[in-house]
Amino acid sequence: MEKVKIEKGYKEYIKYKERIDILEDINVNFETNKIYMIVGESGAGKTTLLNIIGTLDSLTKGNLYIDGKDVTKLNENEKAKLRMEKIGFIFQDFYLNKYMTVEENIMEPLYINEKYNKTTRKQRTDKLIEMVNLTDRKKHFPRELSGGEQQRVAIARALANEPDIILADEPTGNLDKTNEIKIFEILKSLRDNGKCVIVVTHSDRVKKYADIILKLEEGKLKIDED
Ligand SMILES: Nc1ncnc2c1ncn2[C@@H]1O[C@H](COP(=O)(O)OP(=O)(O)O)[C@@H](O)[C@H]1O
Ligand SMILES: [Mg+2]
Repeated sequence: MEKVKIEKGYKEYIKYKERIDILEDINVNFETNKIYMIVGESGAGKTTLLNIIGTLDSLTKGNLYIDGKDVTKLNENEKAKLRMEKIGFIFQDFYLNKYMTVEENIMEPLYINEKYNKTTRKQRTDKLIEMVNLTDRKKHFPRELSGGEQQRVAIARALANEPDIILADEPTGNLDKTNEIKIFEILKSLRDNGKCVIVVTHSDRVKKYADIILKLEEGKLKIDED
């Protein structure tokens, strides 16, 4: 099922009155039940593209559709609502709150969701903690965790509100091989449960987890055949 679509997408930045073209004529569909990998050199625009899909940034020209709805027409409040309901971001630098425990970090996004009350929030949090295998680290603070554990907290947090679209920016960039495998096991099970998973990476080693590899080069996005 088609989930995300970009049509004739352009992105430019103006810096010191100079125009930099980052994305040029992007046309792409992202479907459910697939893991997409966006590869490309540093500075190619991968993070920019991911932020646009996640509605944190917007296209200069062209259209973005999520579930068939033209997102380019939404205001900031509507976009924030859409993000909460549909999008889970896994950032490269985790963005955990260092003054909160594992449990509190994972629970935090649930407070803005009217669906939950105190009891169900707690149940949902416990389930998420179990999913990323951190039950024995519940009361730990981020600084008491390894990089891999912190990344798993970030994943649980991103999945708290059951998003259909999971966006991950170099999710295993700072991790060893064992943790990398664990993270992709989670992403694969999300894929198999009907999610649309889009991962930005520059690591050749993780390409094997992709169903479709897209290469971003000179502003263009192409399917990578090899
Ligand atoms: N807010 C911004 N203003 C101006 N230029 C930016 C901004 N964000 C990113 N860029 C530039 O856009 C290009 C692509 O950046 P990015 O999407 O972060 O690339 P990647 O993630 O592939 O390394 C870079 O040259 C970067 O300097
Ligand atoms: Mg980047």
